[in-house]
This record gives sequence, structure tokens and C-alpha cells, in this order.
Amino acid sequence: MQFLSEQENSSAAVIGMGYVGSAVAGVLAGEGVDVVGIDVNPSLVAQLEQRRCWFSEPGLPELLYSGLDSGRLRVTTDYDLVSGVDVVIIAVGTPVQDTELVDTYLRTACTELAPRLRKGQLVILKSTVPPGVSRNVVAPLLESGGLKVGEDIGLAFCPERLSEGQALQEMRTFPIAIGGFCPDSAAAAAAFWEQTVGVRTITCTSMESAEMVKLASNWWIDHNIAMANELAMLCGALDVDVLEVIGATNTMRKGSGNVNILLPSVGVGGSCLTKDPWMVWRAARDRDVELETIAVAREVNDSMPAYTVDLITDELARTGRTLAGSKIAIFGVAFKNNTGDLRATPALPVVTRLQQGGAEVAIFDPLADAGEVKKIFGQAPVETAREALSGADCIAVLARHDQFDDVDFVALRDAVAPSCVIIDGRAYYSRETIDRFRENGFAYRGIGR
Ligand SMILES: NC(=O)c1ccc[n+]([C@@H]2O[C@H](COP(=O)([O-])OP(=O)(O)OC[C@H]3O[C@@H](n4cnc5c(N)ncnc54)[C@H](O)[C@@H]3O)[C@@H](O)[C@H]2O)c1
Repeated sequence: MQFLSEQENSSAAVIGMGYVGSAVAGVLAGEGVDVVGIDVNPSLVAQLEQRRCWFSEPGLPELLYSGLDSGRLRVTTDYDLVSGVDVVIIAVGTPVQDTELVDTYLRTACTELAPRLRKGQLVILKSTVPPGVSRNVVAPLLESGGLKVGEDIGLAFCPERLSEGQALQEMRTFPIAIGGFCPDSAAAAAAFWEQTVGVRTITCTSMESAEMVKLASNWWIDHNIAMANELAMLCGALDVDVLEVIGATNTMRKGSGNVNILLPSVGVGGSCLTKDPWMVWRAARDRDVELETIAVAREVNDSMPAYTVDLITDELARTGRTLAGSKIAIFGVAFKNNTGDLRATPALPVVTRLQQGGAEVAIFDPLADAGEVKKIFGQAPVETAREALSGADCIAVLARHDQFDDVDFVALRDAVAPSCVIIDGRAYYSRETIDRFRENGFAYRGIGR
């Protein structure tokens, strides 16, 4: 059976208007698709209706508001509206607890959808899931409404591979991997993405294969960063600049591209890299395959906040100071530069360890929601850079937002303590900037620099 009509302007429902769902809905509406975004969280829906968006993704609020203003995008808690659309895209959260998938949100979404689906519709799963979940969990639940997947309705798994900060650009350029329940489902999904977003699609031979594409991507990223972090620890001990080593190493051609060692940092956070590798590990173990690299990479990356605190302690000790009694100005507590996202941020274990060591901590992050910072870190952020810097023995840049370009530590050196230490957890300052810090009385240490 052919799913999805031949018409040029199709319509879609996006189930789960969180970070991914909002980006998908915004981009589709921007491309002229009639989109209804459905979320169980009434306050999220009300806020979007009032043109308030809490995702700090460049361009996303504007895209959503313009979709809402034009009527191309509607948001609701009402599942009944799915009956009127051609394509249903599921983007609900799929967290992991103790290596096991928490599939409650996904199951509830499928159960809500089942009685409302109609013949000819295509369901696309975008949420990240372990291999086999599209076929063994999603398909049977969708069929509980009486329609047969592969005969009456189509089903495809199309992983979302965007990364925060570049999401919109990546959604419009990254090829979309597709795994269909049947060839017609895959063909319908390919036609949908090509006709709407206009990106290249890669059709995998099964849904399990497409599920693994997503998991392999994040396994690779986490593992690569773990190697970069260990390389940084060694370079730090050798007094070699890890960024110089990585920069030169990455010019070597290998396979179909270059060696591509990613950047070391204060740690890996966010909602994906901290959980997706465990999905792979668990999926392997359930099939009697023991994967060694995942736990090692996770352990290395999880050790970086403690390593960063050790750097701070060592640098303070060089000028006769101890952590206890020192003031540490934290610049950026989000898990990534230029986002306000605090999910699983490695800044939290850094701050906790600093406080346990008796340091006074001032948090400054203009992108993170002040209420969320207070909830997660147990203390309110300060409002200005100057307030954070006042009397600081150490400035720890844990996430470097573009706004920090306006803060010239050298020009503000009278505000900080003498021999103030700058710890570069994710700023990747140039050699010239580091020299300027040192010439002006600051000590500088980076991760592997
Ligand atoms: N955040 C990322 O960068 C990223 C990137 C690629 C893939 N993913 C994957 O995409 C999925 C969504 O991630 P996210 O970051 O957008 O999560 P999120 O927590 O920001 O959003 C999930 C949304 O789903 C809603 N929801 C939960 N149950 C629902 C239901 N039954 N019906 C309707 N709405 C429901 C929640 O209220 C929430 O708004 C996950 O599987 C994640 O692993 C995330």
C-alpha cells in the first residue's frame, strides 16, 4: 500500500514538542508544511502559544513564532488532531535509567495514537531507541487501534542527529537515515523528507539498522571525546598543547575522510551522549555481546569534572592558596558552549566538588535560566560578570558563550585577586590570548594545555 499522498504540501503532527520536536515542527512549518505540535505538557503548549520558547537554540524561537503567526503551526494537547494529517512524527523523550530504556513516554504516545490513526498515514519515529523497539514495541502498540502496520499504515524510524547550537542548520543539511517497516514505508518517509526539508535520504535495509545508525553516531562521539580527554591529560603532564597536537593530527587522511579527534573538555553532558551509549551497551548485553569500550569511555568522560577541580587546586597551590577560602568565578554552567541547557551538565560536579573543598563559588551564565540554576546548583547565579569576578582567585570558564567575548578579563584585572587563575574548561583560547593573560598577571591552565 502506498502511504502518504502525492500532494505537494503535506501535513504533519509532531508528538512531543520538546527540544527535538520543536525544531522538527519549526523547520517543517517553515518549509510550508501544515504542522500540529502535540505535547502532554499544557504549560509548554500555553507558553508556545504566548510566543515563549525556553529552548536556547539560535533561530528556533523566531521560526516557531513565525509558524504560529502564519497559522502553519498549531500547538495543542489534543491528540484528536492527528486524524487530519498525512504524517505523524514521534519525538517524545526516551531516557535511560540504570542502562535500561524508560519507554513510558513512547508507549503512552503510541497508545494515544493507535485509536486515532487512519488508513494511508505514515508514522515516523524520531526518538532515539535501542535496536528492535520500533518493530517490537512501537508497531504492536500502533496496531492496537485495529490498523495493520505495513498494510494500513506506514512506519519508519528516522533518527534525529542534530546537535544543540547548530540544530536548524543541521536539520536542513544532514542526510536523513531511514529504516522502514516495509519498502513502502521507507519510500514514503524518503519522499516526505525530500519533498519538505529537501535533504538527501539514506534508506537502510531495516528499522534495526537505522536505529543502530543513531546509536553508533553517539557511541563514536562519546568514545572519541574520551580519547581526546585522555590525550589532554597526557599532554598536560608533558607541557604540550593538546590543541596543537589535535590540530596537526587531524590533517591526516584516513578512510573516507580525515582523522577527526574531537575537543577535550571539562566533561560530557546533555541528554544524549550520557545515555545513548548505555542503550548500546544494554542492547549488546541482552544479546550476550559484552562491549568494553562504552563503559571505559563513559568513565573517562565522567572523570573530567574531578580532573578540572584538581587543575584549579594545583594552580591555586602554586601561589600558596588553598581551595578552602578561595573564591571561584564560574563562567558558563551549561553543558555546551552557547546553549543554556543544564541537562547532565558537568559543571554541576565541578561546583559541588569546589564547594565540598570549602571554596566560595559565584555562578555567571547569561544563557541559563536563573531559576533552573538555583534549582540544580542550590544557589542563584549572579547577574553580571563583574559581580562574579569581584575578588575571584580563579575564573573557571566551563562553557564559553559568545556573550563572554564582551568580558575582557585583562581590563577587569583590578576586580580580581592578584595572580588570579584562569581555567579553560571549554573556551579553547588562542595562544595569543593565553600570552596576553599571562603578561597581565593571570595564571592560565586549560584541559591539556
Ligand atoms: N536533545 C537532543 O539534542 C537530541 C538530539 C537527537 C535526538 N534526541 C532524541 O530525541 C528525543 C526527544 O528528545 P528531546 O531532547 O526533545 O526531549 P525533551 O524532554 O526536550 O522533549 C520531550 C517532550 O515530549 C513530551 N511528551 C512526553 N510524553 C508525551 C506523550 N505521551 N505525548 C506527547 N508528548 C509527550 C514532553 O512533555 C516533552 O515536551 C529523545 O529520544 C532524544 O534521545 C535528542
